[in-house]
Amino acid sequence: MDIEIQLATEEQKKQKPADSELVFGKIFTDYLFEVKYENERWGTPKIVPYHPFILDPATTVLHYAQEIFEGMKAFRHPDGSIHLFRPYKNAERFNRSAERMSMPTVNKDLFVKAITELVKLENEWVPNSPGMTLYIRPTMIATEVALGVHPSDKYLYYIILSPVGPYFKTGFTPTKVYVASTHIRAAPGGTGEAKTGGNYSPTLWSQQKAKALGYPQVLWLDAVERKYVEEAGAMNIMFVIDGEIYTPPLDGTILRGITRASVIELAEDLGYVIHEEPISITDLIDKILDGSCNEIFCVGTAASITPLGEIFYKGESYLVNDCEVGKITQHLYDELVGIQFGKIPDRFNWMYKVQ
Ligand code: PLP
Ligand code: COI
Repeated sequence: MDIEIQLATEEQKKQKPADSELVFGKIFTDYLFEVKYENERWGTPKIVPYHPFILDPATTVLHYAQEIFEGMKAFRHPDGSIHLFRPYKNAERFNRSAERMSMPTVNKDLFVKAITELVKLENEWVPNSPGMTLYIRPTMIATEVALGVHPSDKYLYYIILSPVGPYFKTGFTPTKVYVASTHIRAAPGGTGEAKTGGNYSPTLWSQQKAKALGYPQVLWLDAVERKYVEEAGAMNIMFVIDGEIYTPPLDGTILRGITRASVIELAEDLGYVIHEEPISITDLIDKILDGSCNEIFCVGTAASITPLGEIFYKGESYLVNDCEVGKITQHLYDELVGIQFGKIPDRFNWMYKVQ
């Protein structure tokens, strides 16, 4: 499928920030990709100068949150080439989210081609500095103008790009989480596994509470028993207990993280034993206190691999490994980030060259 390209004028182009000024998701590039869906089919895909959308105040997405998105990154390699990380995995997850949210799916090849063409056009926006990337945000919104609660008959699928620094200001140093004990993120049968905006807004209350206590992220427990650890606000979680790695299973309420799946494959390849099993917060705390759990880390596209140095649960805080980065966390980080930035050969065939 051909993508129409409308070039920006010099006046429409923005000043590019220095890599050293980059934070997460505040600046957007000169172009976006867009394609509309109506009469049960997708229209002409286009790359056009970045622009605001004009939406009728009664547009469905604004009222009932029929929306899905993805999060991906483009990495610059030492030879200057640009690579995506497993983009077909994001295409598959996007379509799973679309099905859950009663939205149309997108052809997977078009999903990847649209990103490739957009990133190619915006190649100068891909940062060169260590750890800096171009974040990619494919998004679909329901655009029918109607207040009745029903699946929209019109959609807009678009992709925007943002040059980014680390998700946490502190970068690869241990962060701290606040365990939500009164509120939940996702219940069985709900939308926890879908990447939909409506999973995030209900978490803001706990996030504010966490922030006020000095914790940048919330760690969620299962909705039924408030017992088992699920995931953090924007990342999956892994624990090292007696030298083996544990991560909560994909039970329908947590996001099927692509970094999670990749770290599992990587860890196995490196000879670590990895278990996908439920772990209760009280067991975890016991194991932190007796020293058998001496590393915890979070994994996700925006956050990469982020070590976790402190957990706050029901009024008490617990330090993990004296808030130092653990050996296994460091090993997995070096390998994953090494592959993503082209410093280590990609033995898994994960990287997809933009050309
Ligand atoms: N969990 C949640 C709630 C997320 O928003 C994300 C980010 O995408 C993840 C986990 C990690 O998923 P991935 O590794 O695919 O980015
Ligand atoms: C990502 O890691 O890409 C995410 O989507 C997390 C986001 C909610 C910041």
